[in-house]
Amino acid sequence: MNHQDQIDKAIASYAQGKLVALPTETVYGLSAPIDEPLLIEKIFQLKSRPHYDPLIVHVADKQQLLPLVKDWSPLCDKLADHFWPGPLTLVLEKTDLVSDMITAGLTSVGVRIPQSQLGLEFLKKLNRPVAAPSANMFKKISPTKAQDVIDVFDEKDVFVLDGGDCSVGIESTILQVSPNQHLTILRPGIISKADIENALSKEQVTVEFSQDKKISAPGQMEEHYRPTKPLYTIFSVDKSSAQKSLQSLYPELSSLHWIELPEDPRLAARQLYGLLRSASQSPAEAIALYMPSKHFYEESWLGIFDRLKRASQFYQLVD
Ligand code: TXA
Ligand code: MG
Repeated sequence: MNHQDQIDKAIASYAQGKLVALPTETVYGLSAPIDEPLLIEKIFQLKSRPHYDPLIVHVADKQQLLPLVKDWSPLCDKLADHFWPGPLTLVLEKTDLVSDMITAGLTSVGVRIPQSQLGLEFLKKLNRPVAAPSANMFKKISPTKAQDVIDVFDEKDVFVLDGGDCSVGIESTILQVSPNQHLTILRPGIISKADIENALSKEQVTVEFSQDKKISAPGQMEEHYRPTKPLYTIFSVDKSSAQKSLQSLYPELSSLHWIELPEDPRLAARQLYGLLRSASQSPAEAIALYMPSKHFYEESWLGIFDRLKRASQFYQLVD
C-alpha cells in the first residue's frame, strides 16, 4: 500500500470503530480523535490503562493546537518554533475542547507536534487533533516499530500505519509551562534541560525538574516499561567488574542475557526498547544491562536512566 492509500485507510478506520497506531519519532501511539469519546474510551480499554493516567494530544500544526490551550505565550512560541515537530510535549491549561477523560480530570493538557513524515501527513489530512498514549499494554515496553504494535493488538481493533522504525526511541520530554511561565520537566527525554535552556537563552527562564511527580504527572508510575523477565541494571567501571559484582550479589542467578548500549545516548535511546524486547525472548532466566559508571550523573543520559530505573528490579552503581 502506498502512503496515500495507507493514510486514507487509517482515516476510514476511525469510522469503523478502530483505533489507529500512529508512527512518531519517539514511539508508536494508539490514537483516536479527541472528540470521539467512544474511541477514547477504547484506548483505555485496549491498553488496560487506568483512567487517572492522562493522554497526550497530537496535532499537525499550531493552528490546530491553539484552540485547545489557554495562555499560549511568546515563550511557548519560542519552544514550539525551536523543537517542533519533535520529541517535546508541552503541558498547558486546557480549554473545554479537551475532555476530562483525556486529561484524567486535570485542568491542563499535554500537546505536541510529532516528527514522522507519515504520521504528520496523516494528521494533516485527518485535520483533527488526536489523543494518543504509547501503543503498548499498560506498564509494558513501548513500541518502536509497526510489528511491535501488531504483536500486541488485534487488527480488528487497531489499524497500524507503518512509518518504519522510530528514530528517537524513548518517549518525549514533558515540559509543564505554568501560567506564570515557570518551566518544569515532568518526564525527561532526549531533549534535555540544557537543550531547553539554550533554546531560551535570552529569556532568562529557569527550568526545574518536578519534585512532586504524583500530582503533576499522574501517569509517572514507579514500575513501568517492564520487560517480561527481571532486569538488573548495573553501573560499573567495566563489564567484567559488573559481572563479578552481580554474581556476588545474586549467586542464584544462573543464566543472564547481557545487554550493552551504544556509547552515544541518542543511539542508546533508539535501541533501548528493541534490545529489551529481544532480551525478553532469549532463553536466559534474567536480563543484565551493563552501563559504564562514568555516565551515571550525565544529564544527556537522564531520559534513558529514567526508563531503566522503572524497568529494572535492581538498579545500582557498584563502583
Ligand atoms: O513520545 C510520547 O510522548 C509518546 C508518543 C506516542 O507521542 N506518548 C506517550 O504517551 O508517551 P503516554 O501516554 O505513554 O505517556 C503520557 C504521559 C502520562 O502518563 C503523564 O505522565 C503525562 O504524559 N501527561 C499527560 N498529560 C499530562 C498533564 N496534563 N499533566 C501532567 N502530565 C501529563
Ligand atoms: Mg506510555
